[in-house]
Amino acid sequence: MTPDTCSRFVRNMVAIALFQPDIPQNCGAILRLSACLGLETHIVGPAGFDLSDRALRRAGLDYLERAAMTEHTGWTAFEAWRTSQPGCRLVLATTRGSVPYADFAFANDDIVLFGRESAGVPENVHQSVDARVRIPMVTGLRSLNVATSAAMILGEALRQTRTFPTAARPTEALS
Ligand SMILES: C[S@@+](CC[C@H](N)C(=O)[O-])C[C@H]1O[C@@H](n2cnc3c(N)ncnc32)[C@H](O)[C@@H]1O
Repeated sequence: MTPDTCSRFVRNMVAIALFQPDIPQNCGAILRLSACLGLETHIVGPAGFDLSDRALRRAGLDYLERAAMTEHTGWTAFEAWRTSQPGCRLVLATTRGSVPYADFAFANDDIVLFGRESAGVPENVHQSVDARVRIPMVTGLRSLNVATSAAMILGEALRQTRTFPTAARPTEALS
């Protein structure tokens, strides 16, 4: 599905967005996470690799076929799409966040944005988001791996919103 025609694939579920990802293995791991949890992922381009990259496929395995993924050409295109979605807050995961993620009240239609592995997100993105959350860490260490931080924050968001997959929730929601 192209960004021009994209709307939320999975309504009433938190979604993931990756800002200009530059490590295909991390992106593959996050797409596998989103497939297993029934979430959609938005890639905010340009990515630092081709989305058909072998390393991405190796990390995502056959789960990639079940991942609801949309690629947006850039930040402006992503924001144009995102702000057209009703009630869709953008929550940035950042080491600069003032709110510990477990204290933040996630809502069903939130999109959680993760930064580029090498540089996080630029200042204009920091200024555009609705909220910024952080995973508390011990003093003196820089950051977690982006896929690790996505697993932690999405786990908490799904726990709060009670939207973990259940046997009763059909996976056909992805199609
Ligand atoms: C490897 S980190 C980026 C490090 C980058 N040098 C920076 O200054 O942001 C990649 C992404 O993982 C997420 N992340 C890593 N550690 C985090 C933490 N403690 N709290 C919230 N998000 C974190 C953020 O989205 C971050 O942009």
